[in-house]
Amino acid sequence: MKPRILVVDDEPLIRTALSETIRRKGFESVMACDGEDALLQFRRSPTPLVFADIRMPRMDGLELLKRIKGAESAPRVVLITAYGSVETAVQAMKEGAYDFLMKPFSTKRVEEILERAMGAEGAYAADSAAAAIVSRDPKILALLSTVKRVADDAASILIQGESGTGKELFARQAHLSGRRRQGPFVAVNCAAIPESLLESELFGHERGAFTGAMTRRVGKFEAADGGTLLLDEISEMSAPLQAKLLRALQERAIDRVGGSRPVEVDIRVVATTNRDLKDEIRHGRFRPDLYYRLAVVPISLPPLRERKGDIALLARHFVKRYAGGADNPVREISPAAIARLEGWSWPGNVRELESCVHRSVLLCNRACLEPSDLILETMIEPATGEQIQETTGGSFRAMEKQLILETLASVGGNRMKAAEILGVSVRTIRNKLRDYREAGKILPITGRELAAPVTSIRKSS
Ligand SMILES: Nc1ncnc2c1ncn2[C@@H]1O[C@H](COP(=O)(O)OP(=O)(O)OP(=O)(O)O)[C@@H](O)[C@H]1O
Ligand SMILES: [Mg+2]
Repeated sequence: MKPRILVVDDEPLIRTALSETIRRKGFESVMACDGEDALLQFRRSPTPLVFADIRMPRMDGLELLKRIKGAESAPRVVLITAYGSVETAVQAMKEGAYDFLMKPFSTKRVEEILERAMGAEGAYAADSAAAAIVSRDPKILALLSTVKRVADDAASILIQGESGTGKELFARQAHLSGRRRQGPFVAVNCAAIPESLLESELFGHERGAFTGAMTRRVGKFEAADGGTLLLDEISEMSAPLQAKLLRALQERAIDRVGGSRPVEVDIRVVATTNRDLKDEIRHGRFRPDLYYRLAVVPISLPPLRERKGDIALLARHFVKRYAGGADNPVREISPAAIARLEGWSWPGNVRELESCVHRSVLLCNRACLEPSDLILETMIEPATGEQIQETTGGSFRAMEKQLILETLASVGGNRMKAAEILGVSVRTIRNKLRDYREAGKILPITGRELAAPVTSIRKSS
């Protein structure tokens, strides 16, 4: 498991920039938006290193430093100060900060601190990356060795699989196994960025290329030069962009929006999708020539229900990851609980199993997790025909919710498919699910929302 680093700042831009650098260095990053939030996260899952802004609402960085220093597993704390506030920096060091970072800071400076603070642990992260994929399934193990075999090549990899099967994990593995691990790993979620912005996000633009393009901007292709570019949810790309991507892959060069000549890039592209791209091709929604360019190395990850042998292994792995904190008594999981997990269908695959174990561990107050401690997401349990209730009366909202959740369940949690069946956009589904989650029905996986009242969780027995 990669060592985690906590990033605390009320400015989202700084948070994401720092996290990006941290991930590029092979660590995992967790984010918090202020001191209180950070303290909460740290108590749940301590990290060896913390980057914290000094000026934040609620609890500032210095206060956080004081509180955290008293913890059993005292981390190294790097405080972020505004440009020119030397006194604060000095005070920070006096209070026991490990180092300070003055805004605006360079990536290089952050990397320096990471290297110094994490030292040997950093090397461990890169080497043990192979161990991050937990499986004894012959199919998964074969795919893993394929990925390692082609790691040094620039040939594109296409990873297909249902949501939560480990596509991103495999993409990172491809990056870390080869010589490109020295270079950046840049991820773009093609479904999350509005189509109108995606082109300049990917290829960058020149100053004045369009209204609002005040400065030149480097796109993700250039940012990933020398490393790996992950194109997540590739099936969401529009036809014109598919054409541009094909050209970029063929020429190994890109055109910035408004640019006059191509810029050469040395990247390996890994694309992922949870749709059947062959099917998209048949429906005329995806270019076959692009498909073959991307799928030089095709990887198809089986859903968890088709590799039940992995459930016990993964469950124990996640218990180890999330249990064992100073204020958590859980140490192991009973065979009966494992059997219960093995009987579940896991529409959300490994991600669902991970969050199930995580929240069960958090809420359990004994040493061994028993079946009654498991909190499964009964909400999206695959529906059988008989389960569809007669609905006379009841609110429109409740019926809509039932319809959405049951449709989702029938397609194994695949939001794209559910959206298609229901004739709404994926965004609508996402927003609805977020609403349900905010109403306290589905407990979020990680992050500060874990602090939400636990009384709203239904325990299944
Ligand atoms: N074999 C595995 N061993 C350990 N952890 C795993 C494994 N497979 C998946 N995970 C974990 O499950 C979670 C989901 O994995 P990941 O994000 O790679 O899925 P994904 O296929 O990209 O999902 P999505 O389609 O929703 O983006 C992550 O926290 C990942 O670390
Ligand atoms: Mg993913």
